[in-house]
Amino acid sequence: MTKKTKLFALIGDPVERSLSPAMHNAAFDALGLDCAYIALRVPSEMLANAVEGIRAIRLAGFNVTHPHKVSIIDLLDKLDRSAEMVGAVNTVKNDGGKLLGFNTDGDGAVRALESKVGKLSGKKVLLLGAGGAARAIAFSLAQAGAKLTVANRTASKAKELVAAINKKLGAKAVHVALKKNILVGEIRRSNIFINATSTGMYPNVDRTLVTADMMHRGLIVNDIVYEPLQTRLLREAKKAGACMVDGLGMLVRQGAMAFEIWTGRRAPVKVMEATVKRELSRRG
Ligand code: ATR
Repeated sequence: MTKKTKLFALIGDPVERSLSPAMHNAAFDALGLDCAYIALRVPSEMLANAVEGIRAIRLAGFNVTHPHKVSIIDLLDKLDRSAEMVGAVNTVKNDGGKLLGFNTDGDGAVRALESKVGKLSGKKVLLLGAGGAARAIAFSLAQAGAKLTVANRTASKAKELVAAINKKLGAKAVHVALKKNILVGEIRRSNIFINATSTGMYPNVDRTLVTADMMHRGLIVNDIVYEPLQTRLLREAKKAGACMVDGLGMLVRQGAMAFEIWTGRRAPVKVMEATVKRELSRRG
């Protein structure tokens, strides 16, 4: 670090297991940028103070994670179209003292998936979840032209999400109950199945909402959980002969898009991906 180092951060609670500091610092190094990225644990009741502090010390930009992605909005100066549409922010740029909010989660996920399986337009996609990550992904899937069905444990959240997507994008998304017999029928009719719930995430690594008997050969199964990379859901998908897409791509692409918003430079995606993989295998 120098006297001129530009500082970036992640704010959330908890942040201890985040891979973003390793990923972004490796990217800054790869491009020889005098920048550094740190993780800051900010409890909810301190969020407003933290954002004032960020303005005062002129942090160049920051990522926002659970539980602040929605509550941060009122503390920012402006939102771009992605954040406005989704109603959540994961990336903030300090533009000469003005804090601008973006959401790269949805487009990051769609780009990562399209890079593995091709265009999503016209594909029938079943998305599990209606939390922060799922919301962003659902909007981007609808924008990419996917035929979207959403199921969530709390059904009212899936209903509200689908209504918002259809209203804002003129899409024809539908919602179904998260019940085994309903999921079986939905998955049978789908090309792609995405888990955007936190089910199966460390430390609850043996959990899954869908098992091999509910999947078919040729189905594309994408889990956005990245710790562990080989989730129970993906192991079940393998048993069924389905095509597996892990959560690494989404993590890296949403980070790469944030990097590009902050620096105006093309993100070194390969370096970011290798760094995250190394960090995850170091953790075992
Ligand atoms: P994130 O920002 O990571 O999306 P979140 O907003 O807390 O986190 O959302 C978590 C998602 O995982 C929600 O869709 C949640 O379902 P509810 O809306 O019903 O809470 C889902 N989820 C978490 N644990 C789950 C479980 N054991 N079974 C089913 N869904 C679960």
